[in-house]
Amino acid sequence: MLAARFHSFGGPEVLRVEEVPWPHPQGDEVLIRVQASSVNGTDLGLRRGSGPARLVARPPFTVGLDVAGEVVGFGPRVTAFDPGDRVFTLIGHGGGGAAEYVTVRQSRVAAAPASVSPAEAAAVPLAGLTALQALRDGAGLHLRRGARVLVYGAAGGIGSFAVGLARHYGATVTGVARGGKLDFVRELGADEVLDSGAVDFTRLGRTWDVIFDTPPALPFARVRSSLTPDGVYVSTRPFPTSLADVRARVGRQGPRWSGVQTKERSQDLAFLARLIDAGELRVPLDRTFPLSEIVAAHRHAEGRTARGKTVVVIHGV
Ligand SMILES: NC(=O)c1ccc[n+]([C@@H]2O[C@H](COP(=O)([O-])OP(=O)(O)OC[C@H]3O[C@@H](n4cnc5c(N)ncnc54)[C@H](OP(=O)(O)O)[C@@H]3O)[C@@H](O)[C@H]2O)c1
Repeated sequence: MLAARFHSFGGPEVLRVEEVPWPHPQGDEVLIRVQASSVNGTDLGLRRGSGPARLVARPPFTVGLDVAGEVVGFGPRVTAFDPGDRVFTLIGHGGGGAAEYVTVRQSRVAAAPASVSPAEAAAVPLAGLTALQALRDGAGLHLRRGARVLVYGAAGGIGSFAVGLARHYGATVTGVARGGKLDFVRELGADEVLDSGAVDFTRLGRTWDVIFDTPPALPFARVRSSLTPDGVYVSTRPFPTSLADVRARVGRQGPRWSGVQTKERSQDLAFLARLIDAGELRVPLDRTFPLSEIVAAHRHAEGRTARGKTVVVIHGV
């Protein structure tokens, strides 16, 4: 079968579409015929080999951390799925999604939202789960009706889901993104947009209950005074990197520090599918590319014009 892999770390040009062995499902794994796989910020970091990515992605490495597709086989312990089921899943850091077929443990798989295309379904798992788990589990947004939430990097994959989810939880949302992307962030449902190149929100003398740093790009010490006394800063960096972070993570007084480590929970995927099918959460699909154009897909996703999600279509329907 065909898969998009890199043999050495580097720019988008290190990606190649090549023949690889067919995967065989074992134990509780399902075999998925991949219809589409999204490009996440994490894929770009793994491909570049930046920081801890070198320890996670051992070349040759097949990119693609999440997919939507059809169940076509399973190991002997699979009980939850039948052939032909339309599913979506977060594979995890092992990758393998940008390929014709992939095997995934059934506990990571859920029925795909019925009201959207496979390309839209594939856009959801990693970015949607990260936004959900950061806002709900990290910031307790489901318990803070009427909260004021600032989403930094609001036009990115995680950021664009975060705007929609914060609105779902009844928050008033300030979306911060670069100037050319502000209309897109408004369309996602943000009540207010700020241009990160023109306005430093930490100098406005205002406060928010939750600040979600999606790139992540904001030191906690810088945003602390922009949080309410019981406010929460949530980062996509899972661990504290400064003493100020550690103090705000364990301290009992003042704004709190929190970091998200995304979990492959099928019940959270099912929750996102219900919101999408109920018309309460929009899938921010930007552009699709065929597998043969994986290099162009990565170039687009890491370029300055990307808004929302870039998706690679494999077995298109
Ligand atoms: N902890 C976890 O478990 C976990 C899980 C998933 C993802 N992540 C991490 O989350 C991050 C975001 O992922 P993603 O998929 O949302 O990426 P993405 O789709 O590439 O979006 C990133 C967004 O951040 C913006 N941005 C980047 N640097 C910025 C800066 N210095 N100032 C302002 N905006 C900036 C980008 O805007 P421009 O394009 O205009 O620069 C883009 O809109 C990645 O670093 C990823 O590794 C962590």
